[in-house]
Amino acid sequence: MWKPPQRIRHETNPGSWPSAATAKKSALFSPLDSGNMHIQTRSWIPAMVPWRAALNGDVTDDVINWYARFAEGKPGAIVIEATGIRDIPSGPLLRISHDRYIDGLKQIVESVKKASNGETKLYIQLIDFLSLRRRPTKEKYFLQHLRITSAHSKAVNIDLLDENGIRDALLALDDEDLKIILTPREYESYQRGHRERVTDTNFPHIQELPQTLPALFAEAARRAKQAGFDGIELHYAHAYTMASFMSKLNTRTDGYGGSLEKRARLPLDVYHAVRSTVGGKFVVGCRMLSDECIDGGSNTEDATYFAIQFASAGMDFISLSRGGKFEDAARPANKQAIYPYTGRSGYECMPHFISDEQGPFGRNIKPTATIRSALHSAGYKTPIVIAGGIHSFEQAETLLQNDQADIIGMARQSLADPDWFLKVRTGNGAAVRTCKYTNYCEGLDQKHKVVTCQLWDRLDMDLPGTLRTPDGKRRLTAPPWGANHESN
Ligand SMILES: Cc1cc2nc3c(=O)[nH]c(=O)nc-3n(C[C@H](O)[C@H](O)[C@H](O)COP(=O)(O)O)c2cc1C
Ligand code: SF4
Repeated sequence: MWKPPQRIRHETNPGSWPSAATAKKSALFSPLDSGNMHIQTRSWIPAMVPWRAALNGDVTDDVINWYARFAEGKPGAIVIEATGIRDIPSGPLLRISHDRYIDGLKQIVESVKKASNGETKLYIQLIDFLSLRRRPTKEKYFLQHLRITSAHSKAVNIDLLDENGIRDALLALDDEDLKIILTPREYESYQRGHRERVTDTNFPHIQELPQTLPALFAEAARRAKQAGFDGIELHYAHAYTMASFMSKLNTRTDGYGGSLEKRARLPLDVYHAVRSTVGGKFVVGCRMLSDECIDGGSNTEDATYFAIQFASAGMDFISLSRGGKFEDAARPANKQAIYPYTGRSGYECMPHFISDEQGPFGRNIKPTATIRSALHSAGYKTPIVIAGGIHSFEQAETLLQNDQADIIGMARQSLADPDWFLKVRTGNGAAVRTCKYTNYCEGLDQKHKVVTCQLWDRLDMDLPGTLRTPDGKRRLTAPPWGANHESN
């Protein structure tokens, strides 16, 4: 992962913890009632893909146990991982792309409700992503993938009819020459694996995205409602299709790219299609970026415009993340897929403890507060969820007291200790297992391996009922609070 050149090591310091009486009076543990949103505390576990779904996208027992474990900590809300809306093979990632998935998803809902005693609201994140190929070997790229053109023929001085001859000649060249001969896009596909973009409008399936996506999201939202979820989160963040439409790099000329207004058009079309399918009383919000954190990308001003549009259209919440883009991601190893959390924008999304002067805690606060304040000035009180390096009660409470956010999201801190919310609420904050922001979990995500936390995945392995990874080396969920180990 990319890290700021300053390489300053920051230690997590949760500060002081409240007594149960103080927690009870706090903003964090107070309810939020706004539009369709009624959550018992202003705490939120943002979406995290744990790589536990079946290869066909089905819910497994491991998925159910994973979310039930988070629910035991009784946060105000949990957002289920990015779940695919298209009925296409996409590896062990959850899918909601057909009615056959509804029964499995229902089981997550039931287990979360049971484990949280009905206290935790459950939302599901709906995602669309474009196709991404692994980085090919040089042989594979030049002998199979590359579409030979007259430019290639001319560059190697071999007749276009002798395609194999051209391929062999290109294969023999070094990268310096290839960089000159290939188009920038071809060179990128060779170096990083082919990645579709929303601007590839020469392909009909990309050209037609504005026509196909609203119905796909709406159908997925209908299934989520049928499965018993309390609401949905449209994934408009990071490196995926909807965020790419919102990006300043979206230069489509069909009315869905270019100006801010045109870049907001598809996200609004999707929202309206979803809303008219699920009705006015179901929670529908989105996750979007406060800043893309890439050269030429959308910034906080753009994000403010989008947030106001979404609030005025009637979204129930806006969850703000930042960065996490393909554009500045590191070149993957051979046969590996590019991962959008390996460049500077990835760092901004999931900051590591080795950082710059600002450190990894609260890098999303300033833009979030700016967007929220602009929303309020425009007359909208749509709840804003913040995330990024938040782990302490003091941080969370200050953000709420200072009117910088409405709901506190903690992704990695919840993974490090799913009982954070219950411990802090009951005056047991000292027992919290504090996230160290090492990104061991993110490294597992990058390798598409079952995600666990290094602070607990080898603890209390012999406790009865401990579920393990297939190799038997790691536990799959955090040990129960009160198991016989030190918390920190
Ligand atoms: C293992 C892992 C998987 C993630 N998966 C998702 C995801 O499915 N959707 C999403 O919007 N963000 C995802 N994220 C990003 C988190 O939701 C969150 O925005 C990020 O980790 C920063 O918050 P934190 O500092 O509280 O962890 C993931 C993060 C991790 C560590
Ligand atoms: S592995 Fe655990 S401690 Fe490290 S960043 Fe992830 S949640 Fe935090």
